[in-house]
Amino acid sequence: MTRDTTACRDTAKRMVAPGKGILAADESIGTMSSRLEKNGVEATEENRRAYRELLAATPDLSDGASGIIFCDETLNQSFADGTPFPKAVHALGILPGIKVDTGAKPCPGLPGEKVTEGLDGLADRLAEYAENGAAFAKWRAVFTITDQTPSRGAIRANTNALARYAAACQEAGLVPIVEPEVLMDGDHAIDRCAEVTAMVHAALREELALLNVDLAGIVLKPNMIIEGDDHEVHANAEQVAEATVTVLRDWPDELGGVTFLSGGQSPERATANLEAIARQDAPWPLTFSFGRALVDPALKAWHGEPDLVEAGQNALSDRVKANAAAVRGDLVTAE
Ligand code: 13P
Repeated sequence: MTRDTTACRDTAKRMVAPGKGILAADESIGTMSSRLEKNGVEATEENRRAYRELLAATPDLSDGASGIIFCDETLNQSFADGTPFPKAVHALGILPGIKVDTGAKPCPGLPGEKVTEGLDGLADRLAEYAENGAAFAKWRAVFTITDQTPSRGAIRANTNALARYAAACQEAGLVPIVEPEVLMDGDHAIDRCAEVTAMVHAALREELALLNVDLAGIVLKPNMIIEGDDHEVHANAEQVAEATVTVLRDWPDELGGVTFLSGGQSPERATANLEAIARQDAPWPLTFSFGRALVDPALKAWHGEPDLVEAGQNALSDRVKANAAAVRGDLVTAE
């Protein structure tokens, strides 16, 4: 079967336009609520809305951000002036995207491993999101490194779901952000992260090919190749960059683009690693689609005070500018 993916290819190009990245502001209601509470903000629907408006309305955000990923709740909310989020964000020169998976759940048959759910009814939901102005979608699968995991079963279940999601998105005219995240949890060395990520990506390429997904019309969102949180030796940015691009080189040149997640790295380390990655030779655009490494400083600066909206926006703006400079190759102070 052939599928016309011209529109997806065009959108993917806009998502990875030179010097721009994607802001991930798509925490589920549960995750967002606990992050608000940790920062002393009551976890109400209105506070979640106000926070996402603060982020999206940051002055000149479109200079460094091509898109913002929202969750379902936000996509159906409006700016304080009554403009629905998708329309308001388009007007700011930014593409709105939507997280469409329903979360990583315990995988039956595989104790301790997870499979991401959300395929049931997906085609109908995608059609509705497209109708409401979404330009792209996101689905995240997670893989935990231990001596025994990820198992072949978890890799197959999750990469198959990612491919089914990607094919459904392209049929709905939405670019799929395909996110196979090998988690930083654990004490593994950087080489083990490389080995597991390569295995997951190989399985993913096979599943995508079996479902005729057009690689030029997807955006891959991988983890950087990095040691586990509890590993005693921290790889430097050059080591991370070289290991990361080495694993990615197995992707064909036509891949629409690569946007990295930050995965729990500090904002400064994520930027320094990104800067080194961007200096590597690669056939596809390489940029950022950070969540925590962009928004954590903004949430801390704002902490729910109407008077501190500008401080929150300045904190976000600083991180977006630093990462945009990193991918442009003109970062002055990588920390
Ligand atoms: P982090 O950058 O915080 O890892 O989040 C990116 C993301 O979109 C997770 O799905």
